[in-house]
Amino acid sequence: MALRKILTEENEILRKVSKKVVNFDESLWELLDDMKETLIHSTGVGLSAVQVGVLKRVFVINLNGAYFEVINPKIIRREGKQKGQEGCLSIPNRFEDVVRPKTVTISFVDRYNFPMQVTATDFMARAFCHESDHLDGILFTDLLKR
Ligand code: CO
Repeated sequence: MALRKILTEENEILRKVSKKVVNFDESLWELLDDMKETLIHSTGVGLSAVQVGVLKRVFVINLNGAYFEVINPKIIRREGKQKGQEGCLSIPNRFEDVVRPKTVTISFVDRYNFPMQVTATDFMARAFCHESDHLDGILFTDLLKR
């Protein structure tokens, strides 16, 4: 495992749409292992592959001892609303209130392409939405303008 450099918002790659993962091979597993290590050594709760310069639809979340590796996610249900503070490892030292769904159900696959589904609420739902947005080139500060 190795730490990867986290890119910040001035890097154009963060605006690109990430590609669906089709190969579930050692290079994907190495990416996931590195992302886990990079996230654990950071102050964040989530990290997407694009933030380390890899345009794959992959993110990891580490929150209150729950660790998720999420590949090719799709938010299949959104319910309610919540407003709360959000930050991003790619936008250091900026925290703003963002409106997100209160509850989301997300379908994805794990590192072996095995299908998974998770229903998350409150801050966990926020984290899933924030990281899913990264895969489409969206940063949380974009949502403040709406
Ligand atoms: Co972020």
